[in-house]
Amino acid sequence: MIHLYEQPKKQGAPIFLLLHGTGGTEQDLIGLVQLLHPDAGYLSVRGAVTENGMPRFFKRLAEGVFDEADLALRTKELMAFIKEKSETYQFSVQELIPVGYSNGANIAANMMFEEALFAQAILLHPMVPRRGIPLPNSEGVNVFIGAGANDPICAASETEELKALFEGAGAHVDVTWSNHGHQLVMPTIESAASWLNNQL
Ligand code: MLT
Repeated sequence: MIHLYEQPKKQGAPIFLLLHGTGGTEQDLIGLVQLLHPDAGYLSVRGAVTENGMPRFFKRLAEGVFDEADLALRTKELMAFIKEKSETYQFSVQELIPVGYSNGANIAANMMFEEALFAQAILLHPMVPRRGIPLPNSEGVNVFIGAGANDPICAASETEELKALFEGAGAHVDVTWSNHGHQLVMPTIESAASWLNNQL
């Protein structure tokens, strides 16, 4: 998979797993690293499928309607890729903190629905990736969700549903709301940075 890797500037600083939104690339979220944790490293991945030329992490049948078979396949591929790169670059997967936006947040959430791989995650405008499946025991997992009260792609009720699903599996979830839509806004990033600061 096309990706960029940068090791943390200080020992013990996190490594972000940067996962862009539809139409983005592995370059898109790098600017967030400085805002979230200036000493962090990152593994930034480009989604492996394209929709009308736009990179994504999995196929969809329509906006907000996921191709579940492709989602399952791409989730497995991404998890295998992360494990492989942890050996190449000599980090432990537990050091990774997914920072996903939109489609990238959705595949991050789906990885977390598969396996409690990550201790923390920053999900920006995520949806519920799948329903009706048991989640792995997620006690000790801390999730930050940045949501838009007027997000036309992810309704507020879906954000609440995702929070409840993670909490049902034992995770701790903090949600920050902006009054905006699906776009990423600075106050959300600032809340994510202070949330992260309290975690580390
Ligand atoms: C998705 O397909 O993952 C969601 O609709 C969000 C997006 O548009 O990327």
